[in-house]
Amino acid sequence: MRIRHHRAFSLLYVGLCWLLWVNCVRCSQDTSSAWPDVTVVEQNAIRSERDIQNTITVDQLPYVGVNLRAILFNDESNQENIDTNTATSLNGTDYLDNFSSLLNQGIGSFILDIENKSNTWYILGTDLLLSDFLSTLNVFLDESNSSLSANIVLFFLRVHVNMPDDSTEDSVVSFQDILNTTSLNITRKTPLALSKKKKSDKEVATDPMLNITALIENNMNAAYIYRPEDLMEDNNFTMGTNLSVPAIDANATWPTLESFIYGKRKRIIVTELSSVFNQSTSPYFFPNSILHFDQQNTTLDCPNSQEQFRNISTIKWRILESQFDTTNIKQYMKCGLSPIVTNPYSIGNITKITPLLKSGMIWSWGPNEPRLSNSRLLMGKDSMQAYNCAMLKYIAADGSTSWVVDNCYAARPMLCKNKYDPFQWALSEEKHKYFTFYNGKDSDICPDNYTFSLPITQLEQRSLRLYLEESEVTNLNIWINLNSIAVSNCWLIGNRGVACPYQRSVSKRNFVSMLVPVVVISAFLLVCVLYLSLISVPIHDNRKNWRRVVNKISKSEMEGVPS
Ligand SMILES: *[C@@H]1O[C@H](CO)[C@@H](O)[C@H](O)[C@H]1NC(C)=O
Ligand SMILES: *[C@@H]1O[C@H](CO)[C@@H](O)[C@H](O)[C@H]1NC(C)=O
Ligand SMILES: *[C@@H]1O[C@H](CO)[C@@H](O)[C@H](O)[C@H]1NC(C)=O
Ligand SMILES: *[C@@H]1O[C@H](CO)[C@@H](O)[C@H](O)[C@H]1NC(C)=O
Ligand SMILES: *[C@@H]1O[C@H](CO)[C@@H](O)[C@H](O)[C@H]1NC(C)=O
Ligand SMILES: *[C@@H]1O[C@H](CO)[C@@H](O)[C@H](O)[C@H]1NC(C)=O
Ligand SMILES: *[C@@H]1O[C@H](CO)[C@@H](O)[C@H](O)[C@H]1NC(C)=O
Ligand SMILES: *[C@@H]1O[C@H](CO)[C@@H](O)[C@H](O)[C@H]1NC(C)=O
Ligand SMILES: *[C@@H]1O[C@H](CO)[C@@H](O)[C@H](O)[C@H]1NC(C)=O
Ligand SMILES: *[C@@H]1O[C@H](CO)[C@@H](O)[C@H](O)[C@H]1NC(C)=O
Ligand SMILES: *[C@@H]1O[C@H](CO)[C@@H](O)[C@H](O)[C@H]1NC(C)=O
Ligand SMILES: *[C@@H]1O[C@H](CO)[C@@H](O)[C@H](O)[C@H]1NC(C)=O
Repeated sequence: MRIRHHRAFSLLYVGLCWLLWVNCVRCSQDTSSAWPDVTVVEQNAIRSERDIQNTITVDQLPYVGVNLRAILFNDESNQENIDTNTATSLNGTDYLDNFSSLLNQGIGSFILDIENKSNTWYILGTDLLLSDFLSTLNVFLDESNSSLSANIVLFFLRVHVNMPDDSTEDSVVSFQDILNTTSLNITRKTPLALSKKKKSDKEVATDPMLNITALIENNMNAAYIYRPEDLMEDNNFTMGTNLSVPAIDANATWPTLESFIYGKRKRIIVTELSSVFNQSTSPYFFPNSILHFDQQNTTLDCPNSQEQFRNISTIKWRILESQFDTTNIKQYMKCGLSPIVTNPYSIGNITKITPLLKSGMIWSWGPNEPRLSNSRLLMGKDSMQAYNCAMLKYIAADGSTSWVVDNCYAARPMLCKNKYDPFQWALSEEKHKYFTFYNGKDSDICPDNYTFSLPITQLEQRSLRLYLEESEVTNLNIWINLNSIAVSNCWLIGNRGVACPYQRSVSKRNFVSMLVPVVVISAFLLVCVLYLSLISVPIHDNRKNWRRVVNKISKSEMEGVPS
């Protein structure tokens, strides 16, 4: 009876959602852009990757980024804007809208080049004011300021100082100089030598008309920015000590993603790749010496041994600015690098960049995963089905690893990670149903000092792959510690004690308005999906149901009945 009741409701909501969606498509047609939607499945994949990395310090996270000069703010785009010859193409609105779309696609970092023209900061080579750019960025940060959508963004700034024509210096740093990365082979730790003579740097930095601190404070909410001062405070260093930020950074610990986004409510870190500004002229900028910044090709070896894995993970902010394709971007990321794409695009073909960005952004889940599911509806039909558990699929032939949603009732080896060394793995001796972990503890599954776990960085995933290769296993599907049992499609690490963090936002607030920054249509779909899983799998009900399921399983296991 109750199930039927729920089903009737579900159908009602499916209908309702469908209507909303159709309406939405209709009303969004005027403003439709060529940018592809971020599908609900992709959003779930990106969000679950963010969530499992909560405990990682922000300097070790993967960021897929772009060089905005290379892909958008360039001469080709200027020409295309003139050819288009509409009000929005000529006054820069198209530029900013497309930048906004890039942010909504989920980029994690960007390089922006700026120059001073007639005592004002402009984006290099365009007539776009830096202030308008910052306002656009701020709109994105405001719209995505919720536990559902918030993520960290790295802002790399390159400052070019234009000298007046009568100056004797050969001073204008041209685009070619910047982008011709083949001629640059710079290993970071010394400041990038892109900027001009020290004297003019100082002039710019202190020129009140070019006060970039004031510009930031006037055009965006500076509370989003994590400053050098914050890093010092978090490490209990006093400002009084005469240490510069690079020195502090050598011994400082960066905050974890969780404390960065939810604890401190920060969203963005600004680093100046040039060295025009300093700590006193611009307290929002980190110096480039905090980065391990490579151009063209990496100077770091791809780790192969336990020791190499440990060594590379002591290096902070491993960034590689280069041209990539959909294959090698993954390779570089597996070696622990954060790519910044400099492939040539322009405003006419910028949307074609999305497959490249996505192939970097979604590093864990396989294609079209995590597939959407509603466990209750399935359980109603067949009590031995619950597509709410994640397995790692290893293919021996090409050594590929990807995560796939599977039926929690299936019996598989379970993945164990060393408690003291995240690059040491083991598999459970026996195959287990996913519930075994819920019903028991690590010691039932994993060897001593190991715990049921999952790879939470690409380096860890690479070390796992090497372990599997060494073990000479054939194709294998392994349970990893990730499930959406509490609420379908909300992927969490752990057991039934863990609650979906978005559940409150769903019930307490207008879900739709929180999702506006993400592409509108998929937002509606996501609401439908999450709403459906909440309607048909209320938490309390689900827990009871869960206990019953677990009891049933343990009973059948005790009786030795195979499924
Ligand atoms: C650019 O032009 C469009 C259309 O006329 C207008 O809506 C927009 O406000 C303008 N933007 C700026 C920055 O002037
Ligand atoms: C992006 O640029 C294109 C080409 O100029 C333009 O048609 C479109 O309106 C811009 N905006 C967005 C959101 O993509
Ligand atoms: C840029 O700033 C420098 C230093 O303040 C100044 O000498 C130069 O004239 C400025 N250039 C322009 C085009 O305003
Ligand atoms: C972001 O949202 C949180 C709560 O939702 C709020 O406390 C915080 O002040 C907001 N941040 C900014 C910069 O508005
Ligand atoms: C880039 O630098 C290389 C090596 O210095 C040079 O051979 C090449 O012509 C440069 N390319 C451009 C477009 O300037
Ligand atoms: C780039 O730097 C590496 C390490 O410093 C060096 O071994 C290599 O020869 C350099 N390559 C070029 C083209 O200068
Ligand atoms: C820049 O602006 C900030 C904030 O308005 C101010 O505190 C600072 O003194 C200014 N710096 C200079 C060099 O004018
Ligand atoms: C800084 O001090 C606080 C309070 O004394 C402490 O909880 C925190 O662990 C310290 N942080 C570091 C990095 O030492
Ligand atoms: C970093 O820590 C080490 C060991 O505690 C110490 O010797 C060194 O002086 C510190 N470096 C800085 C820049 O504080
Ligand atoms: C980058 O360097 C690696 C070795 O460090 C080399 O195998 C690879 O071919 C290089 N890639 C390019 C594009 O130069
Ligand atoms: C995009 O357009 C630019 C110039 O308009 C061109 O150089 C580039 O090759 C194009 N990129 C792609 C992927 O089509
Ligand atoms: C587990 O770790 C503890 C502490 O590091 C160690 O004393 C013990 O020998 C380890 N056990 C095994 C089986 O490796």
